[in-house]
Amino acid sequence: MSKSNKEYKRVTTNSLIEMKASNEKISMLTAYDYSMASVVDAANVDVILVGDSASNVMSGHETTVPITLDQMIYHASGVVKASKRALVVVDLPFGSYQSDAQEALRSSIRIMKESGAHAVKLEGGEEIEQSVTNILNAGIPVMGHLGLTPQSIYKFGTYSVRAKEKEEAQKLISDAKKLEELGCFAIVLEKIPSSLAKQVAESVHIPIIGIGAGSDVDGQVLVVHDLIGLTNAFNPRFLRRYMNLFEDMKKAIENYVSDVKSVDFPNQNEQY
Ligand code: KIV
Repeated sequence: MSKSNKEYKRVTTNSLIEMKASNEKISMLTAYDYSMASVVDAANVDVILVGDSASNVMSGHETTVPITLDQMIYHASGVVKASKRALVVVDLPFGSYQSDAQEALRSSIRIMKESGAHAVKLEGGEEIEQSVTNILNAGIPVMGHLGLTPQSIYKFGTYSVRAKEKEEAQKLISDAKKLEELGCFAIVLEKIPSSLAKQVAESVHIPIIGIGAGSDVDGQVLVVHDLIGLTNAFNPRFLRRYMNLFEDMKKAIENYVSDVKSVDFPNQNEQY
């Protein structure tokens, strides 16, 4: 049973700020299609993220770099149709906002108009200041993303824990303050030491949502396919698996194959 202080008909960016102020933790999960989003929304998850992790999970790419803006819009439009309560946030994919702030705005407008989503998420701090400003000036809510930023994988070279050194930690804190000052409504912090995540959460008024950032933040996000065990090769320390769906589905499908081969399926009651 979820612990909720207040019932929300539709979670909004303001609801999240209210949750932080009243010490109610925020739940966030990914979804990339209508069916999965229907389940996630029915389970009262506060925020559904149409993450660019769809690149790995749905298309089998090694990184989030290849997914396109058109593909993100396709995923997001199914999720939006299924979401009755959750706030739907969509990742701006790599290449749709880095070149200039005008392009960042154009990409965000396409996401909002063509998918019906409620907000966008971008990776980065002060270097994307102008893009964040332009998007916010157009009335589009922005979620930030700091720490491990998978779109820059080729710059960093590994997916290991970020901001362990003082200089990077200080930049992260100042980036978080900058994103708050610009008007972002929340920030995802990915894979950083929990003591640093706590410090960031205490330094800003907007919600900090962690993934691999410990428990002293304002909410948690996971990739839903990891949580249900549909992906089974990815095993970071921060992941808690609540089921082993890969094995359960495999058994069910093996039973189907066996029933077809033995002409057990369909039986008399399963035909016309
Ligand atoms: O794309 C994604 O799934 C994300 C989460 C890991 C926060 O950005």
